[in-house]
Amino acid sequence: MSLENRTLYFGDNLQVIEEKFPDNFFDLIYLDPPFNSNRNYNVLFKEGQVDASAQIRAFEDTWEWSYPTIRLFNGLKESNDPQIAIMMQSLFEIMRDTPMMAYLVNMTARLIPLRRVLKETGSIYLHCDPTASHYLKMIMDVIFGKQNFRNELIWCYTRPSSPLRQFPRTHDVILFYTKTNRTPFYRDAIRVPYDEETIARSNRNPGEKSSMGKKGKDRLNPLGKIPESWWRIPMLQGNSTERLGYPTQKPEALLERIIKASSKEGDWVLDPFCGCGTSVAVAERLNRNWIGIDISMQSVNVIMERMRNHFPGIKINIDGIPMDYESAAALAEKDKFAFQDWAITLVGANPPSGVSKKGADRGIDGIILFREKVDYSNPKLRKIIVQVKGGGTNRGDVARLKGDLEREDAPMGILITLKDATAEMKREAALSGEYQYTQATTFPRIQLLSIREWFEGKELKLPADTVNPFKKAESKKGADIGQLEIDLE
Ligand SMILES: C[S@@+](CC[C@H](N)C(=O)[O-])C[C@H]1O[C@@H](n2cnc3c(N)ncnc32)[C@H](O)[C@@H]1O
Repeated sequence: MSLENRTLYFGDNLQVIEEKFPDNFFDLIYLDPPFNSNRNYNVLFKEGQVDASAQIRAFEDTWEWSYPTIRLFNGLKESNDPQIAIMMQSLFEIMRDTPMMAYLVNMTARLIPLRRVLKETGSIYLHCDPTASHYLKMIMDVIFGKQNFRNELIWCYTRPSSPLRQFPRTHDVILFYTKTNRTPFYRDAIRVPYDEETIARSNRNPGEKSSMGKKGKDRLNPLGKIPESWWRIPMLQGNSTERLGYPTQKPEALLERIIKASSKEGDWVLDPFCGCGTSVAVAERLNRNWIGIDISMQSVNVIMERMRNHFPGIKINIDGIPMDYESAAALAEKDKFAFQDWAITLVGANPPSGVSKKGADRGIDGIILFREKVDYSNPKLRKIIVQVKGGGTNRGDVARLKGDLEREDAPMGILITLKDATAEMKREAALSGEYQYTQATTFPRIQLLSIREWFEGKELKLPADTVNPFKKAESKKGADIGQLEIDLE
C-alpha cells in the first residue's frame, strides 16, 4: 500500500485510516477534532456562517450514543488489549451513555489506528479543549504509553469574554505524544528570541560567554530559546488575511511550530480532521509530504481553493469523490447524505446555513446566493434553492421545488438528479417560466441537471455575481455573511 503526496480523502477518517493507510508510515499526525464546548457548539449550530451538513452529522455521530457509537464501544470493550478494554468499561461506569462518553469512544476508536500508522519515530499532537483534555490524556496514556507523553501544550489567546462565575476560557490544550523514545525533536527549528528580562538577568547577549567565568553551559543560545509549553499565538481575527471563513480555522503560526518541531523536509504529515486545511497548507509551504482527511465536502472544496491560491499550479489528488457516473451512483447508494453534499457543490452551492435539519425539512439541500441586479442602485441578496434526488425522480419533484421556491421567496431553483430527467419533468420545469435577472438577462426559473449531464460538461445558466461565504474577499466585508444568516433563517 503506497500513498501519494498531496492527497485529500473525502470521508470518515476511521474508515479511511483503516482501509487505506499502511503501518508505520507517518512522521507527524496533527488532529483537531470538533469539541463539545459551548463555543464550538455555537459555531457549528448557531452562528451558522458556513456549516456543512456532513460536519453536523459527523458531530452528532461523534457526540451521541448512537448505533455506530455503541458498535464501536462494544468492540473496544472486547479489545485484545486488556488495558483498553478495562479503560472503556471503567469510563462507562462513571459516565454512562453521556455525550462525553460517546465522544471518548469515537476518539479512542480513531486513536488506536492512528498509532498503527505512525512511524516508530513519529509524533502525534491531539488538539482538544479543556472540557475533554483530561479524559483524552488518560486515553493517550493507555494507547501511546505514559512514558511517551511529551507535553501538554497550552495555546493561549485573548478574545472578548466576561463570564459571571469563572475566568474566561481562553486556551486550548494540545497533547503531544511520541510512539517511542527514539523520536527526533527539531528544537533548533523552533527557537524564539529570549525575553528582554532573561537577557538582562544573564547580563550578556545571546551567544556571548558569561563574564562570570562559567563554562559555555549557561551561554544563551544565539538561535534563541526553545518556546515554553504555553504558546501565545493570536486567534484569527475577522480582518486577518489568513481567515477563510471556516469557523474552526486555526492560525498557521500554531501549525508551523508543530510541524517544524516534529518533522523535517520530505517527512509525511497527516491531518485526519483537516477542516480548511491549515496543517496541509503549512506542510506544503515547508516542503513536507502531506495527506488530509475530512468528512465534509465543503472542507475539501475550501482546501482546494486555498491550495490553488497559495500554490498556483499545485496538483492535488482527491480520493472518495466520484469521478464518473458509476462512482456517483455508488455513493448515492452507500450514503445518501454524502451524495447530496457532493452534488450541491457541482453547481457551487453550500448547505443551508445553521441547522441543517431545518433546511432539509424545508426541502433545501443547498443554497447559492447572488446579488439581484434589477435595481442597480440597490442590489439585493437573493437565493437559488438546490434540491438533490439520488433515487428515482418524477414530475412531482419539479412541482414540489416550484412550491418551495414560492414559500422561500427564492427566484430560482435547481434540481440535481442521479437519473436523467423524464420528458414530463422537463416540461414541468419549462412551464415554471423565467426570472428577470437584469433588464437584459433572464434565467430559467427551474433548471434540471442530471449527474450524467454534469459529467458530460453541461453547465447551468446562473448569475455571475454569486456570493461565496468561504472566500476571503467576501468574508472580509462582513456584511455578506451577516446577510447570509438573516436571509436564511
Ligand atoms: C475543528 S475542525 C478542524 C479545523 C482545522 N484544524 C483547521 O484549521 O481548519 C474539525 C474538522 O473535522 C471534520 N470531521 C469531523 N468528523 C470527522 C470524521 N469522522 N472524519 C473526518 N473528518 C471529520 C469536520 O468536518 C471539520 O472540518
